[in-house]
Amino acid sequence: MPRDIHLIDHPLVQHKLTLMRRKETSTSSFRRLLSELSMLMAYEVTREMPMHEVEIETPLETMRSRLIDGKKTVLVSILRAGAGILDGMLQVIPGARIAHIGLYRDPKTLVAVEYYFKVPHDMQGRDAIVIDPMLATGNSAVAAVDRLKETNPRSIRFVCLLAAPEGLARFHEAHPDVPVYTAAVDRQLDEHGYILPGLGDAGDRLFGTK
Ligand code: URA
Repeated sequence: MPRDIHLIDHPLVQHKLTLMRRKETSTSSFRRLLSELSMLMAYEVTREMPMHEVEIETPLETMRSRLIDGKKTVLVSILRAGAGILDGMLQVIPGARIAHIGLYRDPKTLVAVEYYFKVPHDMQGRDAIVIDPMLATGNSAVAAVDRLKETNPRSIRFVCLLAAPEGLARFHEAHPDVPVYTAAVDRQLDEHGYILPGLGDAGDRLFGTK
């Protein structure tokens, strides 16, 4: 595995992922599990976040202590399934700004087509965390990061729940400077671009649209 792929194999993450994969898991459970998992993934992806020291007063003394540069973080949600990760991440990074990139996969060509792009005006100097549950063909992830790079953020990280080897290779080739955080790397893609064994269509399972 390339060194900039971070496999989040914490038992809590793996347990919740197994529950999400099950086909009998309900929409409400799927949504709750994804939100819980997102909090745990936020913990991993923020490990090396820049911090600054402030002076505070405890009930007993004055001390210098550290805070995360929380307002510098921007969570970049790839619509629509990225929305399932956003809530959980915001619970642990409440000061983050939010960006949205709307992309859909052309069902025939599997190419990512952009229909929405809204990011904070001051992206320079911000640390971007791009979120999308599934890194499948890698087309959406590559297109999202291509666009994001035009805004010059200080750093970019990509977080997903599941990745396919094909998508990881494609993403890594296009953006070798962007680390990927994932809870699992599955076996392969099927002919429709779905991850096997996977968990099905993350958006449909999240929003109950199928
Ligand atoms: N998107 C999904 O929601 N599921 C897959 O398996 C692949 C892409």
